[in-house]
Parts: sequence; C-alpha cells; structure tokens
Amino acid sequence: MNSKVEEILNRQIAAEASSSQLYLSMASWAECHGINGTAKFLYLHSDEEREHMLKLVRFVNERGGTAIIPAIDSPKSDFDSLRQLFVLLLEHEIKVTEMINEVVHVCLQEKDYTTHNFMQWFVAEQLEEEALAREIVDKLNMIGDDKGGLYLFDRDIEMMQTSANAPQN
Ligand code: FEO
Repeated sequence: MNSKVEEILNRQIAAEASSSQLYLSMASWAECHGINGTAKFLYLHSDEEREHMLKLVRFVNERGGTAIIPAIDSPKSDFDSLRQLFVLLLEHEIKVTEMINEVVHVCLQEKDYTTHNFMQWFVAEQLEEEALAREIVDKLNMIGDDKGGLYLFDRDIEMMQTSANAPQN
C-alpha cells in the first residue's frame, strides 16, 4: 500500500476511534442526567463510529498495509447543556469531514484510485451525519430552555435515525 495513503488512513482510524469515545462519553453524561432518549441515540452513534474505525482497519490490512490501533485521550465528560453537547458534536463532525476530504485529496495525489473509491462511502456518510447534527442543533435552538420542549425532544430523538439504526436496503 502507498505509504502516504497508509499514514493518512491510520490518522483517520485514530479520528474515528476518538469520535466513538467522545460520543460514548456524551451518551454516559446524558444517561446520568436522566436524558435517556438522547443517551440511547448517542450510544448508537458511538457504536457507529467504532464501525467506521473497523472498516478502515480491515481495509488497510487487506490491502497489505498495517493498521495501527491508537491510544485515545480521555474525551470531554461534562457538558453545560444538551445544546452545548450537540453543538460540540456538530463541530466535531465538521472536523471529521475535513479530515475525510484530506484523505480523498491524498488518494488523488498518489493516484490510489482503489482507496479513493473506498473513501466515497465515508464522504456520503459525513454528509448525512453533518446534516443530522445540524437538524438537531436547529431544533434545540428553537426549544431554548423550555422544559416541555426538551422533554419532547428527548422522546423524539430516539426515533431519529443515525445510519446505525436506519433500515438497511
Ligand atoms: Fe465516522 Fe462521524 O465520523
């Protein structure tokens, strides 16, 4: 495998692993605060990020590279509000999208069209995840501090589909 591509894919493996830990930390915070619908949504989102990491690990190894399983720093574990939590989640996803774009860029530079093709799944996935996070932040901006609104939000978010719980075609 091309060494520059291998290096940036390993960087992406670390990014997906830390996304998974961050969302796990967010899920746990929500659960401790009795925001159970949100906790469920975030636990699933964390699983989904781990799946992203695994997808990359297996791809690197199958193509003759060596996947590096990273150590992960402790993620942020306290949040001021549900809104702050989702604003951070959206900012995080935007950062991940930039990283995915960088991987795609290196693939083109190195003329690695196989990996470029493989990465298109991640490009589409990021589009969905960012759109969902934006929708959630918009909802929370509308609700503000209204307790009834937050109660309904927490009930409804359980039904919102991350790709992990979306029906498979
Ligand atoms: Fe796998 Fe949400 O980035």
